[in-house]
Amino acid sequence: MKRMMKLGVAFAALVAVSCANCEKPAEVKSASDVVVENILTRRSIRDYKAEPVCREQMAKVIECGLYAPNAMNAQTWAVRVVDAPDFIDGVTAIAVEQMPRLAEQKGFRNIFRNAPTVAFVACPEESYSGEYDCGLLSENMMLAAWSMGIGSCCLGSVVPVMTSEAAKPYLERLQLPEGYKLLVGIAFGYPADEIPAPTPRDMAKGFYVE
Ligand SMILES: Cc1cc2nc3c(=O)[nH]c(=O)nc-3n(C[C@H](O)[C@H](O)[C@H](O)COP(=O)(O)O)c2cc1C
Repeated sequence: MKRMMKLGVAFAALVAVSCANCEKPAEVKSASDVVVENILTRRSIRDYKAEPVCREQMAKVIECGLYAPNAMNAQTWAVRVVDAPDFIDGVTAIAVEQMPRLAEQKGFRNIFRNAPTVAFVACPEESYSGEYDCGLLSENMMLAAWSMGIGSCCLGSVVPVMTSEAAKPYLERLQLPEGYKLLVGIAFGYPADEIPAPTPRDMAKGFYVE
């Protein structure tokens, strides 16, 4: 116990020194370095290997989503993860029937950007904070996934397909609570290609005011 305390004090002293000087050896990454790097290197991935995301990893990703901040902890969200090929291929067939040109895309396998695993996120139709809460949940999931080498891409485009009459059986399979609307699909999978370069951001969109 004493030894543990000594170690703790030594660690605290080390942290205090490195905080005061804001300097550390180049090869040592602090926890905040790792978190910031994870946020800044995440990209929307639009092509995936065929193998579904390991369910154990996906369980952790879902857990991270469900730990997102949300108004009054009302948890006005529902997440459903699908890796069943018949589901993914079935919805894709409906989409292709509705928009035949989709299938002309190079390497096209499915409408989820070829992802083998898809999360569907929904919130109550009438809700003060549902969409906001689900946005935070979605980003938590995508960042958690990225930290595990799993790519992702938010897909608003799949909502009209999923909510079309032809896809009703698939929407029902999601077992969303009564009165919930589907907000987005999120593709998940191991990236097939090189990670794309960052899309530019307008840094003038955020600043201090005095
Ligand atoms: C609500 C929402 C809907 C999106 N829908 C699509 C989509 O349908 N198809 C797609 O390829 N990307 C979609 N995206 C991904 C964005 O295009 C992407 O996040 C943006 O271009 C920034 O690129 P980055 O994620 O690589 O930083 C969506 C993102 C959000 C947040």
